[in-house]
Amino acid sequence: MKKFLADLGPCTAIIGAQWGDEGKGKVTDILGEHFDVIARACGGANAGHTIVVGGKKHVFHLLPAGCLHEGKPVVLGSGMVIHLPTLLEEIETLKKAGVHLLDRLFISGSAHILFEFHKKIDAVMEERRGAEGIGTTKRGIGPAYMDKAARSGIRMEQLTGDLRKVLTEKAKDVKIMYGIDVDIDAELAALKTAEHVLKHAIISLLPDFLREFIEKKKTILIEGAQAVLLDLDHGSYPYVTSSQTTAAGALQGLGLPPKILSSCIGVAKAYCTRVGSGNFLTEDTGEAGERLRERGGEYGSTTGRPRRTGWLHLPHLQYGAFINGFSAINLTKLDVLDTEKEIPVGVGVDTNGKVIYEKLAGWQTSTRSITEFGKLPKAAQDYVLFIEKKIGVPVRLIGTGQGREEIIVR
Ligand code: GDP
Ligand code: IMO
Ligand code: MG
Repeated sequence: MKKFLADLGPCTAIIGAQWGDEGKGKVTDILGEHFDVIARACGGANAGHTIVVGGKKHVFHLLPAGCLHEGKPVVLGSGMVIHLPTLLEEIETLKKAGVHLLDRLFISGSAHILFEFHKKIDAVMEERRGAEGIGTTKRGIGPAYMDKAARSGIRMEQLTGDLRKVLTEKAKDVKIMYGIDVDIDAELAALKTAEHVLKHAIISLLPDFLREFIEKKKTILIEGAQAVLLDLDHGSYPYVTSSQTTAAGALQGLGLPPKILSSCIGVAKAYCTRVGSGNFLTEDTGEAGERLRERGGEYGSTTGRPRRTGWLHLPHLQYGAFINGFSAINLTKLDVLDTEKEIPVGVGVDTNGKVIYEKLAGWQTSTRSITEFGKLPKAAQDYVLFIEKKIGVPVRLIGTGQGREEIIVR
């Protein structure tokens, strides 16, 4: 671990390399102990990051999973859209678990507030799309970013102001466009509750705030949300989310200069999943896919929806490695493949658009909880080395279970 940490350097981003839910939360939690500041940059409560510490499960939607480490500043970036009741609930749940956050939570004043009506608009827009629905998490993400891009959003820095007038105007537009009645009083009441708890956490200029840490040689760990193939610009549009999910997007979301990033860990499952609609070339709708879903517990942590399952597609990982400049890969959930006889891996696409698979030998023995690469069965080692060679990026972390300690560091 020491060598690995030294290689990471002072600013590391953890980025999803597939369609999300790769296990970003787990690795941020593990590495968080060794960093000074833990940050989330973009997205909202569409994220669901589950970690298991000492047998206890924690699920995060807005807070970075790395926030469990007492005493470390936790930052919510300018690129985020924040549903305040969800944030308060997460803070409260942590408090009940004995983790105190309020005196070390810092929220960018430029982050946008996501209202109840954004969620309702999300649902109406999905309904209107009919069969072409994106399969959003219905957390209001698209509509909140629509307001941001239209420059009519409401930001965290406005939380302490009187927002009745601006919400009344907004409500008129929402009624005309979507036929939705905005409950202005309820929205205002939620803002008041949040203001009371969070007003001291709001930072007026996040880049200046972070610069001070950097000048004091403090290290920063950025927990990405969503993943490369869900990126608004570079993902499988329109079946994407509405934010930038890449390393560059994370830096933008925090107001950090690109040159500061010393390393970027791409997180990829040892197979592949997707929630929501859109192309999934290596999807397996048969028995093997069902096995992956059951063994991997592939049900969304945000919506509970069954995740679509399938195999790795190496061109996607190569694509993500380029866009983000992955310096290392964290291959997660290797243990889920333990019962497979043969593991197909997508290595390319033929002229008819069909995936070309290479079939690798399975190991059919448990890798659960193994923490040394040399102790993995030979076929599992070969599987990892095959992927590493094809992507051209070292696989330095390998997940062998949900628990914080179930990981191999190379
Ligand atoms: P995230 O959104 O990228 O943080 O990932 P999620 O938390 O949505 O989904 C990953 C799921 O896989 C969580 O339930 C994790 O506890 C679990 N997980 C992470 N790493 C491993 C691993 O190596 N093995 C197994 N079996 N489960 C893992
Ligand atoms: P984490 O951080 C998996 C998917 C949704 C849908 C599309 C658009 O846990 O990896 P949205 O609600 O963002 O407008 O939905 O993006 N999606 C995710 N899938 N993991 C996530 O986050 C996701 N966040 C959004 O399922 O297909
Ligand atoms: Mg998730």
